[in-house]
Amino acid sequence: MTTVTAPPKLSILVENVRKTFLLRHTHSFKEAFISKIKKKQTSTSFDALKDVSFEINEGESVAILGYNGSGKSTLLKLISGVLEPDAGRIRTRGRVGALIEVGAGFHPELSGRENVYLNAAILGMSKKEIDERFDDIVAFSEIEDFIDSEVKHYSSGMFLRLAFSVAIHVRLDILLVDEILSVGDAPFREKCRKKIRELIGEGKTMVVVSHDVGTVRELCDRGIVIKKGVKIFDGPVEEAIEALKNQ
Ligand SMILES: Nc1ncnc2c1ncn2[C@@H]1O[C@H](COP(=O)(O)OP(=O)(O)OP(=O)(O)O)[C@@H](O)[C@H]1O
Ligand SMILES: [Mg+2]
Repeated sequence: MTTVTAPPKLSILVENVRKTFLLRHTHSFKEAFISKIKKKQTSTSFDALKDVSFEINEGESVAILGYNGSGKSTLLKLISGVLEPDAGRIRTRGRVGALIEVGAGFHPELSGRENVYLNAAILGMSKKEIDERFDDIVAFSEIEDFIDSEVKHYSSGMFLRLAFSVAIHVRLDILLVDEILSVGDAPFREKCRKKIRELIGEGKTMVVVSHDVGTVRELCDRGIVIKKGVKIFDGPVEEAIEALKNQ
């Protein structure tokens, strides 16, 4: 008897992507005005990502590696749809959850409880779905006692816990994680890693940015190395770690 395995489904497509930012060279309005009269250039463009292409299949867990400023966060923002590419295209299948800028959608004047509802709604959950998962979200964050305080009074760790907890309890197919595992205290980091392993086990697609080689090894099978906006390696995670060191 032969078993027929279904071909892997494409989860993320990144095709010939370029992202250009403008770098300003003037500081004040006056300076900008004088530069304009003198026809001096006030900004230059800079490619944070140059012709980057790769495909990620459903259920893969991929690390994006590279030194500071190489373009990793920009890439995750493009995949999440926060940024638009200037050339090329990006396609994703299913719902994308992103832990990119922690608590970006949190409102300081609202309580933890209100922020959970607000954020989960932004991430596409219905009131009923949030009601069902609310207790789990709060329990995971371990900030039960403070859930009705305004989040502006939270410590940065508490803030992170709640934001992370909301993001991972939302129904998602793809999870993008940028550096989050290096924040928070050791027990919480371990708990997050465990949860991410669970999500990988459930077949979710994972893209992880981390400077911590241990985390990368533990969570990812494949690594993509970016150097100054250019993809220089894509392959097994151990080889990617080597490629990063030897670039
Ligand atoms: N909104 C922006 N405007 C202008 N330049 C930007 C913007 N966002 C990112 N950049 C530039 O793009 C480059 C890549 O930045 P990015 O944040 O993607 O790097 P990174 O690989 O995530 O670095 P790190 O490891 O420090 O987090 C950097 O030179 C950065 O200054
Ligand atoms: Mg970054």
